Amino acid sequence: MFSDRIEGKWIARFAELFAQSGVETGDEIVVLSETQSRNINVHLCELALVQLGAKPLHVVVTTPAQTAVVPIRSTGASAALGYHKPAMAALSFGGLVIDCTLEGLLHAPELAVILKSGTRVLMISNEHPEILERIGIDTKLKDRVKAGMKLMRNAKHMHVTSAAGTDLHINLEKSVVGGGWGYTTTPGTITNWPGGLCLAFPARNSVNGTLVLNTGDQNLTFKRYLEQPVHLTLENDYVRAIEGDNLDCQLMRDAISVWQDDDAYATSHVGWGMNHQAKWVSMAHYDRADHNGTEQRVFAGNFLFSTGANEIAQRYSLGHFDIPMRNCSIQLDGKDVVVEGRLEESLA
Ligand SMILES: [Fe+2]
Repeated sequence: MFSDRIEGKWIARFAELFAQSGVETGDEIVVLSETQSRNINVHLCELALVQLGAKPLHVVVTTPAQTAVVPIRSTGASAALGYHKPAMAALSFGGLVIDCTLEGLLHAPELAVILKSGTRVLMISNEHPEILERIGIDTKLKDRVKAGMKLMRNAKHMHVTSAAGTDLHINLEKSVVGGGWGYTTTPGTITNWPGGLCLAFPARNSVNGTLVLNTGDQNLTFKRYLEQPVHLTLENDYVRAIEGDNLDCQLMRDAISVWQDDDAYATSHVGWGMNHQAKWVSMAHYDRADHNGTEQRVFAGNFLFSTGANEIAQRYSLGHFDIPMRNCSIQLDGKDVVVEGRLEESLA
């Protein structure tokens, strides 16, 4: 679809992101990548940093051998670092690390050590630069995401419903709330570009009810729109029934069962998208290799449900589904946050 040559407009967009993340002339910056990273993005990082007068250093680790029988996708837990000592030393320096690993460091086991040094990490999603160019950087997103996170943090209960039959209850007490808007200037923090997500990792035994994945909802592990509805029944966080006489259901059942790990059936995170630049339909425009579904995770008003690892509930499965759902309504302690897929006024 694309000719992967460097474009000036992409350097400009990356430079805009880095400037928003506090990069100044003379700053020493580490660009982390792995041998299978999207090379054009790694290259764009370097050129944009140089354009800003910064001094980039590339740290490139080898993409590790596969350990699983199916591809590990969209976990946000890169295994590329493997506590490599010289790499860890280079990353733990208290400045800015730009993370171009395939999965990203967000849930990597080494992240805490890196952040503790005061380093801030800017994850660039494994998206084609055309996607990053189009979504860009929205400086209004920060306040809106923060407002959403505050609502979630102050709430005890999330209720998700839809005309398709979803009726899911989530206890938010003891959950850990997160969110991001795509850039950061704060030492010891990590963010992901493109951003625009408010999410919570619920504590154990917090999620119960029915989730009806409807036509047009997306399973981002497969980078696929669902064509037929799939009914999920959740009991104390775990998907205990996956029902539907269709291919989407078969794919989901198979891809979870292959892990032979009950925690692959459990709830990972729940939340909603806030980014107005991100569009539900865009996945239909791209070849699969050109995108990684970040846009779909953050499009405004989606309810994002996911299965798999949840550190707050002490579950560490490698299986992970991120499923953005359209046309859902989300209430926090009885107050509307999203109504039939549209953000409520104060968050819109
Ligand atoms: Fe996820």
